[in-house]
Amino acid sequence: MGKLVRFGVSLEEGLLARFDPFIERLGYKSRSEAIRDLIRERLVAGEWKHEKGPAMGVLSLVYSHEVRELSKKLTDIQHHHLGIILSSTHIHMDEHNCLEVVILKGPAREIQEVAGLLLSAKGVKHGKLITTTTGKHLD
Ligand code: NI
Repeated sequence: MGKLVRFGVSLEEGLLARFDPFIERLGYKSRSEAIRDLIRERLVAGEWKHEKGPAMGVLSLVYSHEVRELSKKLTDIQHHHLGIILSSTHIHMDEHNCLEVVILKGPAREIQEVAGLLLSAKGVKHGKLITTTTGKHLD
């Protein structure tokens, strides 16, 4: 972590009155930590938008292994994009449903493309791509 710098922030009373209960519900103990996280979030979103360097993605997929050919299709897609897939974990949740978590690293656009292929496969019930960063530019 870098050196801490203190700076003053001016904002409208009403905005602060909404901010405090909001961050309290999220579990923040101080405004500083909440503001740090907000800044980091915007920086990561910026990296994704402007594709600065490699990005990271964590993709979750929930699907039924009983849908014909679906498991094979999801595996095929991953085999065709080996370069950006670091890891995948498959959990059999119950008799019918599977959870797969795929961790990707590479250009933001490619991560989004591969995640899109997996998420849009017919039979995937739920899924979400978490877009994050390699952390290099964040303190
Ligand atoms: Ni399974």
